[in-house]
Amino acid sequence: MRHFLTLKDFTKDEILEMIALAHKIKQQTSKKQYVPYLEHQTLGMIFEKSSTRTRVSFETGIYQLGGIGLFLSSNDIQLGRGEPMKDTARVISRMVDMVMIRTFSQEKLLEFAQYSKVPVINGLTDEYHPVQLMADYLTMLEFGKDINPICAYIGDGNNMAHSWLMLASKLGFELRIATPKGYECDASIVADALAFAKESGAVITISDDPKEAVRGASVITTDTWVSMGQEEEKATRLKDFKGYMVDKALMSLADSDAIFLHCLPAYREYEVSEEIFEKHAEEVFTQAENRLHAQKGVMVWLDQHRKER
Ligand code: CP
Ligand code: NVA
Repeated sequence: MRHFLTLKDFTKDEILEMIALAHKIKQQTSKKQYVPYLEHQTLGMIFEKSSTRTRVSFETGIYQLGGIGLFLSSNDIQLGRGEPMKDTARVISRMVDMVMIRTFSQEKLLEFAQYSKVPVINGLTDEYHPVQLMADYLTMLEFGKDINPICAYIGDGNNMAHSWLMLASKLGFELRIATPKGYECDASIVADALAFAKESGAVITISDDPKEAVRGASVITTDTWVSMGQEEEKATRLKDFKGYMVDKALMSLADSDAIFLHCLPAYREYEVSEEIFEKHAEEVFTQAENRLHAQKGVMVWLDQHRKER
């Protein structure tokens, strides 16, 4: 049985298999062909943090695959009152067929997976957001940016930056990350990515220079400067990230038909200007919709691999 906890655990071929499945199921869905790949299956969805896209896309996704989703907010279940993660895992995984969790540390997610009888999917942790990157890559493919892309990630060295590092280093494309001093990516995640890059041929550049990162790039992306759980650091962060907004001046350095991606929610006039966000709204909202399709690919792939054993 496989879990989907970080892209680190997957080969290039496996990631592309999930993307191909997602693409196929998206086409079927667009023709109103709802193939019941996961008929009668239940997806438990545990949320310790807020969500719009992750909740709606997983709940709709499992329903369209013939199953049902259970929304379990930590405010409502005993986990929020101190029941241990490992007990929660042992109870819930005896009743459902798959679990998605959004939580704080990757360690908590790993603990759940260790005690789970069913596949577990990372719906965002402080370290990674791998399902988002599956949607991002599907979007790159649909906009013709999957062949030798040069991607530039501007902003916080957070879960999104880490996930971009994993995707690029596994698939073998160029990624330039520009973060302000003091907000760099986790050194051990960078080291892992550089090791994968040696095998895949990915070119990874890390700097504090957004202009150099964006120059000639075909995909520009950013994320909030204040992630969930960092609310108290907001004032300092807004000061420290000055100069990192993706605006017209910065975008003008990119390839002339570069796309802009944002995992959302977006905070205008902070990490992205209103003008650039609205100019690229079609790309960004296709990316958001692709959460639905990409995660179907992930869920069906995990189910197929459980059956193979
Ligand atoms: N991008 C993303 O994961 O959005 P939500 O926080 O709304 O789920
Ligand atoms: N980095 C953000 C992503 C939100 C989808 C956060 O963790 O809050």
